[in-house]
Amino acid sequence: MISSTQDDRPKATAIPYRDEPLPNVPNDLVIPNVLSLDFDERLWGYFVNLPRVRKSGILSRHRHTGPVHATTLHGKWHYLEHDWWATEGSHAFEPPGDIHTLEVPDGVEEMVTLFHVTRAYIYVDPDGKPVGVEDVFSKLASAKMHYERVGLGANYVDQFIR
Ligand SMILES: [Fe+2]
Repeated sequence: MISSTQDDRPKATAIPYRDEPLPNVPNDLVIPNVLSLDFDERLWGYFVNLPRVRKSGILSRHRHTGPVHATTLHGKWHYLEHDWWATEGSHAFEPPGDIHTLEVPDGVEEMVTLFHVTRAYIYVDPDGKPVGVEDVFSKLASAKMHYERVGLGANYVDQFIR
């Protein structure tokens, strides 16, 4: 029987791995400075979704088919359906099946939140009837249009796909 206090992990050493990489492992994706608010605005927003909202208003009502993690980096917001507020430095977990309507209130000059969205979300009317779908493929289509419009070319998004 193995004791719960026994540690069989090898001792840490400062010797890098030196054999061949494992097959079918893509390169790491490293984007310096991506969470800085001074980031190149043409690149802003990706799925993982990082919206930067600079006016009060409503983001469309939707139902999640998978879990979402939301980390608020700047400003504040809330859902019309819930009594909690997402404030700077806070984290929220949205379970699959949650239906909500995001509002950035008057007086918030800028809201930035890192949404890790899993699977699709379904836009719904006030009674829950589906009216549209957003998923990684619709986000990619939007990103291609955006990068084309700002002069970086539609294929700019390809480097972010894993
Ligand atoms: Fe949501």
